[in-house]
Amino acid sequence: MNRVFAPGDRVQLVDPKGRRHLVVLQSGQRYHTHRGIVDHDALLGLPEGSVITSTKGTPYVAFRASLAEYVLAMPRGAAVVYPKDAAMIVGYADIFPGAVVLEAGAGSGALTCWLLRAVGERGAVVSVERRADFAAVARRNVVRFFGSPPPNWHLVVGDVTDVVAPGPLRRVDRVVLDMLDPWTAVDAVARLLAPGGIVCCYVATTPQLGRTVESLRAHGAFAEPEAFETLLRTWHVEGLAIRPDHRMIGHTGFLVTARRMADGVPAPPRRRRPAPGAWSGDEAAGLLAGVRPGDLDPVAGTDDVDAGPRTPAG
Ligand SMILES: C[S@@+](CC[C@H](N)C(=O)[O-])C[C@H]1O[C@@H](n2cnc3c(N)ncnc32)[C@H](O)[C@@H]1O
Repeated sequence: MNRVFAPGDRVQLVDPKGRRHLVVLQSGQRYHTHRGIVDHDALLGLPEGSVITSTKGTPYVAFRASLAEYVLAMPRGAAVVYPKDAAMIVGYADIFPGAVVLEAGAGSGALTCWLLRAVGERGAVVSVERRADFAAVARRNVVRFFGSPPPNWHLVVGDVTDVVAPGPLRRVDRVVLDMLDPWTAVDAVARLLAPGGIVCCYVATTPQLGRTVESLRAHGAFAEPEAFETLLRTWHVEGLAIRPDHRMIGHTGFLVTARRMADGVPAPPRRRRPAPGAWSGDEAAGLLAGVRPGDLDPVAGTDDVDAGPRTPAG
């Protein structure tokens, strides 16, 4: 694509210090920075990668905003999935062109944009959000990103456990849960997910991580879950000064993935013994009596609050 800048384009302006400004181009408009004013008209008609100079002489490099840049700059209701995690979700949940994906909750619509782009026009995304105000934010952000409502996107206001069970949906290829208590949706997800399908849960804290994994294990319809987090460390590279940047985003969230077994085929029991001390008291007694770990309730529930910041302020 070799399109020149046109009205309505979202353009990222980067100054010599790397500071970024997201501007939506409109004929006749001016963008004010503390390093002078940039005329939108001066950008219109230029190719991407052009340099525009402000009235105070500061040069800005101009590119159309990437999806990662867009989601970090867009208005938010709920905390958004950080781009490094969205990229891992698309990769490790194996979101493919043509896939039918169920997502909950939609929140601010950041992950929805990544999913819609990954499934392409032949696929479909069903996003469930229980808060009508957040659903409205998600709708605005998604429509703004794609330019119009994607015809293969269905936004449902409601609780994911009600929507999918029994619901109008048929089987889906992938389920992505970014909600406080994904374990409450495990049974509904198992009924909806096609054999071989992948459920991917994004959680912020270790109690959520433990409870999600144990619930998937205990259910029986899923193969052994996998859990991981992604640490992204940027580097400073200049001459001989080559080192990791001093600052990094230390923690965003954990990903848990599990694959749906064939209908009626239970997951084989795990061979590995639990590590000493992995279960205590009643739980250990339960294990010895043949009770599967997840049949117990190892972690107290958490309040329905945002479990913490997952993205830098913005
Ligand atoms: C952290 S936000 C999701 C952010 C979203 N993935 C994004 O990138 O913008 C979590 C959302 O899940 C919604 N939620 C929590 N439990 C839910 C449920 N049982 N069904 C549907 N939505 C739910 C909350 O209202 C909240 O908007």
